[in-house]
Amino acid sequence: MVLLVGNWKMAPEKAKDALSLAKKVQVLARTHKKNIKMVICVPGVHLSALSKVVKAPLSLGGQGISPSNEIAQTGRESAGMIASYGASYCIVGHSESRARGESDTDVAHATQLLLQKKVTPIVCIGEKERDAHGWYLSSVKSQVEAVIGALPKQLLKKLVFAYEPVWAIGKDALREATAVECREMIIFIRKIIADASDEKVAKAVSILYGGSVDENNGASFIDQGEADGLLPGRLSLDPKRF
Ligand code: PGA
Repeated sequence: MVLLVGNWKMAPEKAKDALSLAKKVQVLARTHKKNIKMVICVPGVHLSALSKVVKAPLSLGGQGISPSNEIAQTGRESAGMIASYGASYCIVGHSESRARGESDTDVAHATQLLLQKKVTPIVCIGEKERDAHGWYLSSVKSQVEAVIGALPKQLLKKLVFAYEPVWAIGKDALREATAVECREMIIFIRKIIADASDEKVAKAVSILYGGSVDENNGASFIDQGEADGLLPGRLSLDPKRF
């Protein structure tokens, strides 16, 4: 099963445009092969309206939650809120959220709260830049360990990780990763999970690739890159390309 998750980021602006986009994706999801599971992760403000039109085989997801259930957090949403509006997935630790101050500890707490509400966390990890000596590997390792270290072993297989190198994301990206770079990182991430639990768990965890995914490079991350799916951002706002 390939997991195809669209990250709508902070778009569309108008409720009616969000609704019409979701309806188009819904139609496409129905015509797709059975081995592709499609999810759209939308701004929290659109969840309620979209939950009325998004039905299986398409699923709805959020883009982030607060790492605590404390009520005094003006402007934030809880895991329970997005779950009650029909989100069955939620992105956590996206690099754009980390850049606004989301820490590894916040990501670990948010992941725990999502699992408690039976929402599948899509945990984004990825280095800001690559250096010739491979030091960037340690930043990815600590991002993964922060999340898996906070969870009991039996919950690890419920996680989805998305390897998203920061340098490959968005309109200012240097380039997308190569399939070889993707494969190396996916093996590396599985090894970290295996060391913390066992090989069976490491194989069960889904690991996606994200960062300038498009209709030309997408298949290579799955076929040669060994990703279990993709997390396109900008592309997911165009239903046909998605
Ligand atoms: P992009 O974004 O596909 O537009 O590079 C990916 C993401 O932010 O998840």
